[in-house]
Amino acid sequence: MPAKHQNDIRRQADEFIAKQKGKVSSHPWYLQYHVMPQAGWMNDPNGFSYFNGEYHLFYQHHPYDPTWGPMYWGHVKSKDLVHWEHLPVALAPDEEYDRDGCFSGSAIEKDGKHVLLYTGNVWTERDEDDNLIQVQATAVSEDGIYYEKPGDNPVIASAPEGDIHPLHFRDPKVWQHEDDYYMVLGSKTKANTGQVLLYRSPDLLEWEFVAVMAKGEGNFGFMWECPDLFDLDGKDVLVMSPQGVEPEGDAYHNLHQSGYVIGNLDYATGKLDYGAFHMLDHGFDFYAPQTTMDEKGRRILIAWMDMWESEMPTQNAGYAGAMTIPRVVTRKADKLYITPLPELKNLRENMVAHQQVKVEGETSLPEVAGDCIELEMTLDTSQASEFGIKLRVDKAAGQETVLQFNKDTGLVILDRNNSGEGPGGVRKASLEITDLLDVQIFIDKSSVEIFLNGGERVMTTRIYPTEQAKGVSFFTDKSLTLVSLKKWDLKQAIK
Ligand code: FRU
Repeated sequence: MPAKHQNDIRRQADEFIAKQKGKVSSHPWYLQYHVMPQAGWMNDPNGFSYFNGEYHLFYQHHPYDPTWGPMYWGHVKSKDLVHWEHLPVALAPDEEYDRDGCFSGSAIEKDGKHVLLYTGNVWTERDEDDNLIQVQATAVSEDGIYYEKPGDNPVIASAPEGDIHPLHFRDPKVWQHEDDYYMVLGSKTKANTGQVLLYRSPDLLEWEFVAVMAKGEGNFGFMWECPDLFDLDGKDVLVMSPQGVEPEGDAYHNLHQSGYVIGNLDYATGKLDYGAFHMLDHGFDFYAPQTTMDEKGRRILIAWMDMWESEMPTQNAGYAGAMTIPRVVTRKADKLYITPLPELKNLRENMVAHQQVKVEGETSLPEVAGDCIELEMTLDTSQASEFGIKLRVDKAAGQETVLQFNKDTGLVILDRNNSGEGPGGVRKASLEITDLLDVQIFIDKSSVEIFLNGGERVMTTRIYPTEQAKGVSFFTDKSLTLVSLKKWDLKQAIK
């Protein structure tokens, strides 16, 4: 169709990406089974949805430069959530109301069409953080490839009255409930307390403000970004990314946090009655998660696998930012459990298995090594007080990424101080270290994702080691038994 998507702005971006992608994807830190930009910068996942038999995932994208800039929406799709295919840029900042960026948002199917809802951002002359105008807008597609912005944009032109900051007002996530559509929006009060707004619409075009659905109290951030509200087995889960929560003990050491509360949403009043805030990931690089319901009725979550203002050494090679692997979210009482998408098993090859290996001091095992691998193990920890696993070890370069468990303190510690280039640091999380401990680890060229005890704790980090850094070793102060350990190479999954 000779439509607006063919406009110069989007076409130029696609042409630029086409020229860069070969260079970028052959770089040693380019991930093999995670979604990354083919050129330039990526942040938040957007528009994660199922449409016409396929999963669509969009992302905040600045194709021309590996730093944040005027936001486009990059786009990939998949039949199985494992193998992804890049598509043309879906949105470009090419209208008056979004001329400085198509910020984060979501997608939903309506009447056989794929509808995106996003925030149009415009910079103004005002000073500092308030130099913006944000509105909510839509774009529509029939084929899930080319998206048109209808003439009635923006669909929400200004923030509602009340104790609601008039300018910071973004990241619409939309869902259907009974006969209506609902939207949560990230917001803050006039005095900078993070909150979430709830809207209702019969048609995705006319939006009525319902209420401030939830608002932070105490150390809960100055702005809540990227809210997501979904039902999980009869409870309402609100996922959000509060900016500026202060560190408390071992928690909240990243610049911004992402987590959830569980409660009950009263659709009539728009109020969410909720319990304690929990983090979704205890590593370094995890932000702005977004979920969708898959074909099988599971709740699937993907997040940006980086952090704002973090050093990203791939920028020197023209690209930055990645998505986590898809993760399945389940609920037991008032906690969420986060496990890797089981279908990622389809990427496994070359299995190596060991059983009943006793570790004293430090041990490596034959053929258990690699930089694009999955490790699955059950550890008998009954005779150990301190133990752990070193990943991406390059002895000659003095590099290792260390996952350490301490039974006395009940802590799991992820240490990337010697991981290679890029930022260092340590993240700690409490964990019930049972005598039989399940550990599952996904390593890609510059990422590590660790799932503990069936998804009770997850730790995610980017690391930038040498190409030789492929070693894996196990260590303990006393004695540790690897009851079972399996290692697979993982196949490339993105084209
Ligand atoms: C979150 C965020 C969103 C915004 C987008 C801009 O990481 O700040 O609130 O829409 O990034 O790229």
